[in-house]
Amino acid sequence: MRVTLQEILGFKKRGERFPMLTAYDYPTAKVVDEAGVPLILVGDSLGNVVLGYDSTVFVTMDVMIHHTAAVVRGAKRALVVGDMPFMSYQTGTVTALENAARFLREAGAQAVKLEGGEVMAETTKALVDRGIPVMGHIGFTPQSAYQIGQRVQGRSIDAAEKLVRDAHAVEDAGAFAVVLELVPSELAKLITERLTIPTIGIGAGPDCDAQVQVVSDMLGLYTDFVPRHAKQFARLADDMRSAVTTYSESVREGSFPTEENGSSLKD
Ligand code: KIV
Repeated sequence: MRVTLQEILGFKKRGERFPMLTAYDYPTAKVVDEAGVPLILVGDSLGNVVLGYDSTVFVTMDVMIHHTAAVVRGAKRALVVGDMPFMSYQTGTVTALENAARFLREAGAQAVKLEGGEVMAETTKALVDRGIPVMGHIGFTPQSAYQIGQRVQGRSIDAAEKLVRDAHAVEDAGAFAVVLELVPSELAKLITERLTIPTIGIGAGPDCDAQVQVVSDMLGLYTDFVPRHAKQFARLADDMRSAVTTYSESVREGSFPTEENGSSLKD
């Protein structure tokens, strides 16, 4: 049985912390799912860590649908959230509804995520009222990086108050959870205590209800830029490089393939 929204809300009610991870393809989703992670986000961070762009603004709906469908095929149990890309929801409620519906109908996701607090409250409510579960995302919102810069949000009193208002707006609009990205720990703690929906932190300290990491960061697979808030729990890029080197040497010296890796005539 797939994880439900009620189970996600239940974690908060019982004070149980939980992990969320991104995934962008079938084999990774399978591993993350089998390891028992209850929420998988197909983040538009795939623009950076999979496609090699320097911004998420280049990610399109078609790309997101393609990757989300692969993740859904790999994840049998986790609730899969599709990240709505730049300008797929900011231009109006109807566009947002149509694009959110594509995540559910074409890709098989169970929810969508969109960036923005008060400014996106009306859109969030429109989606939720029509049966589309929404995860909010406030603090540093990468789709607005050209405007707001690449930095921690909510450090001044005014900015902190604005973030608290954003968090309440997301909850009041009906979102089932909210990502807090690059938010001072004390502020993330306060927001977490005030909301009834789970807060999911990334660079927001240890007191959020849940944590999310970009899977390629925590596996040490994407190493062009390792954010301060990321921890490498493995070094897959190193392991892959070493495996590829060993394979290449084996081919060059003739130790791979052997008879066992092939077939022979019957007679
Ligand atoms: O796109 C993404 O991976 C995200 C997470 C960092 C929350 O939005």
